[in-house]
Amino acid sequence: MYPVPVAGVRELLVTSGSTMAAVEVARQMSEGARNLSLSGHVGFDSMPDQLVNKSVCQGFCFNILCVGETGLGKSTLMDTLFNTRFEGDPAAHNQPGVHIKSNNYELQESNVRLKLSIVNSVGFGDQINKEESYKSIVEFIDAQFEAYLQEELKIKRTLHNYHDSRIHVCLYFIAPTGHSLKSLDLVTMKKLDSKVNIVPIIAKADSISKNELQKFKIKIMSELVSNGVQIYQFPTDDETVAEINGTMNAHLPFAVVGSTEEIKIGNKMMKARQYPWGTVQVENENHCDFVKLREMLIRVNMEDLREQTHARHYELYRRCKLEEMGFKDTDPDNKPFSLQETYEAKRNEFLGELQKKEEEMRQMFVMRVKEKESELKEAEKELHDKFDRLKKLHQDEKKKLEDKKKSLDDEINAFKQRKTAAELLQSQAQQSGSQQTLKRDKERKNSGFL
Ligand code: GTP
Ligand code: MG
Repeated sequence: MYPVPVAGVRELLVTSGSTMAAVEVARQMSEGARNLSLSGHVGFDSMPDQLVNKSVCQGFCFNILCVGETGLGKSTLMDTLFNTRFEGDPAAHNQPGVHIKSNNYELQESNVRLKLSIVNSVGFGDQINKEESYKSIVEFIDAQFEAYLQEELKIKRTLHNYHDSRIHVCLYFIAPTGHSLKSLDLVTMKKLDSKVNIVPIIAKADSISKNELQKFKIKIMSELVSNGVQIYQFPTDDETVAEINGTMNAHLPFAVVGSTEEIKIGNKMMKARQYPWGTVQVENENHCDFVKLREMLIRVNMEDLREQTHARHYELYRRCKLEEMGFKDTDPDNKPFSLQETYEAKRNEFLGELQKKEEEMRQMFVMRVKEKESELKEAEKELHDKFDRLKKLHQDEKKKLEDKKKSLDDEINAFKQRKTAAELLQSQAQQSGSQQTLKRDKERKNSGFL
């Protein structure tokens, strides 16, 4: 909630129009506040009650992410923690990678309503190549932060009734091997530790002996420290819970057993797991740390987990995202830089870039036109040359043909002349032949031969 600006501040906002100056005046005014004592009951001591009433009326939300290999008892533990039965059937493990399954529930205890989301990493650790196992989990967490950021950045925000899906706690289920953490666990926790509150737990702790469990816990913690994995520490700055939280921090990681089966022990029904050799009581602190986990997670630190998610993890995501987008609080000289100034600077930068791009495109266009022009000229010249060559070839050919025609014409003429001469000779010969015949006939007649 934001305080209503006092008159002086409001005037300053109106007259100077400078938000930064107004903020500075407000700061100076609040610094100079005087301490006064009241002479009678005013009533603002009911503020905490008003807050409680409002919160109870609105209800609360809490989102738990369960990460751990298949069959480590994640679903059973959730059922045990909230004393109910969430999922009907075990998750199908027929998909190639890790996929995220989120279920929402509404629970009520006394008059307090809780919107609970249980997010499961289905198929985690099932693959032969586990390198990418953490990716879909990280993407899911980031997507919830992004959705919240987008809502925050809207002009018309509805954050008061926004369904907050950001993950408040990640219960990381460690297999009860008794040896050391698997590299899959270390890599995944390292990738998640800046995005979510990690509470590591040793699953199915009834399958490991008491001595081994102690050594295993120490080993896990030393491996987490040596690999720089930050797990959630129960806060010790609030004195009402400092002692219990301090003690519980020393018990991490909690070794838990889950069961929804109730067995009569003495004259009480208790959650337990029954074996041929005996019974493990889930809520018996000598048997496992289930009670410690429930106490820390739900009864003492649920609100801190929600706060840490908003103030630490979401804040980090938001800061990185806004910085990526070019927003900053101070200029290079470390002077405050308002959102409006950032916007103006970004706008100018964008316009400058746009102009540069436009100029580049124009130049490119001119260059391309010139290139095309010279290409066309070149092609035109080639065509002209080709035309000239063909024309010359054609002329040469024509001349050759004309020469040939002429020589043929000459030959024809000569032939015709020879033919005429021959015909003349032939007719002359024929003429003289017939004259001789006549002459012989005449001679024969004259001689009386006939
Ligand atoms: P997926 O969702 O398939 O990954 O499995 P899960 O991790 O949700 O495991 P689930 O709760 O379905 O339990 C798998 C099996 O382990 C069931 O047979 C449970 O009864 C058993 N189981 C659950 N918790 C414990 C436990 O604390 N100790 C032992 N010994 N068995 C447990
Ligand atoms: Mg399950």
